[in-house]
Amino acid sequence: MDIGYSVEQLRVAATDAVRAPSLHNVQPWRFRLRDGGIEILVDPARRLPATDPSGWGARVAAGAALFNLRLALAVAGHPATVRLRPYPAEPDVVARLMPDVPRRPTPTEQSLYAAIPRRFSNRAPFWPDPVPADARWRLSDAARAEHCWLELLIGVSAVNAFAEIANGANRVLERDPAYRAERQAWIRREHALDGVPTAAGGPRAEPQDLLPARGFGDRCRPPGRDFEPEPLVAVLGSTGNTAVDQVVAGQALQRVLLTATDCGLSVSMLSQPVEVPSAREQLRVSLGRFGAPQMVMRIGYGQPGWPTPRRDVDEVLDLPVHQV
Ligand SMILES: Cc1cc2nc3c(=O)[nH]c(=O)nc-3n(C[C@H](O)[C@H](O)[C@H](O)COP(=O)(O)O)c2cc1C
Repeated sequence: MDIGYSVEQLRVAATDAVRAPSLHNVQPWRFRLRDGGIEILVDPARRLPATDPSGWGARVAAGAALFNLRLALAVAGHPATVRLRPYPAEPDVVARLMPDVPRRPTPTEQSLYAAIPRRFSNRAPFWPDPVPADARWRLSDAARAEHCWLELLIGVSAVNAFAEIANGANRVLERDPAYRAERQAWIRREHALDGVPTAAGGPRAEPQDLLPARGFGDRCRPPGRDFEPEPLVAVLGSTGNTAVDQVVAGQALQRVLLTATDCGLSVSMLSQPVEVPSAREQLRVSLGRFGAPQMVMRIGYGQPGWPTPRRDVDEVLDLPVHQV
């Protein structure tokens, strides 16, 4: 077993970790090496006080980045054992990774790892083709493998009932000027290394849309290119809702997203019903589930798109001066 990870291993794995999704693409993470362990931290400088007052979104994003870190290290033959929130006195430290016994990566690890650079949020309408049973099974299995549940909404009435909850939550959020201002501040009309490019924002919302969009897109859709009438909606949930549960959910989210990418599927996320506590509880009860919904996804076959930018990895590494 290795004594510890090296700076080079950290840099390579963090390059993959930063491809994870985050609210408004704020990229709320930092990485460091301490006593041979790779640590991932939530970056307090990148909080979204109006959109994410509790820090839930930052912890889910850091959990997603952690899943990429785990994959990158495993595929390099140096898998990690992970401790979540290892220091009670340092709640910003989300996880600490130490080298486990070296082994060859599994085929699943290899295919999920290969999906990291291909994954992106696709907010455009999908084709009406249904997602086949074997892909649905793989998605649910991905969530289960990371100790979470994935509920796929079956039938028009389940999707309509969800849409009502999601639209209600969206209306609550949109009433808050600070929330709207924060979103506006992270929309990018010119090339930038963070934030959501308008080109990735999806079409401008229209009254006939079933599900609420976050409002990043400002382009009108071409005639006849409405959203699919019966989207596959999936709700990801964890067994509890502590800070650790949210990091666990982030890892499960990323595993589901990469599995979808590996299946040739596109995904967009909508978390408005998770961000409004009453809507979240309504959603949980409507699903008859224990625990806490942590993310909602629209899944289907989309048109090709491209990944959004990220900051350079050296901007998110905290290294001792002599190692930079
Ligand atoms: C916790 C969390 C919540 C999110 N909520 C939404 C959302 O409500 N609507 C949306 O369009 N995208 C949402 N996203 C996706 C991010 O906007 C997206 O990951 C980010 O812009 C980076 O783009 P990428 O996913 O293409 O890499 C969410 C992502 C995370 C991690």
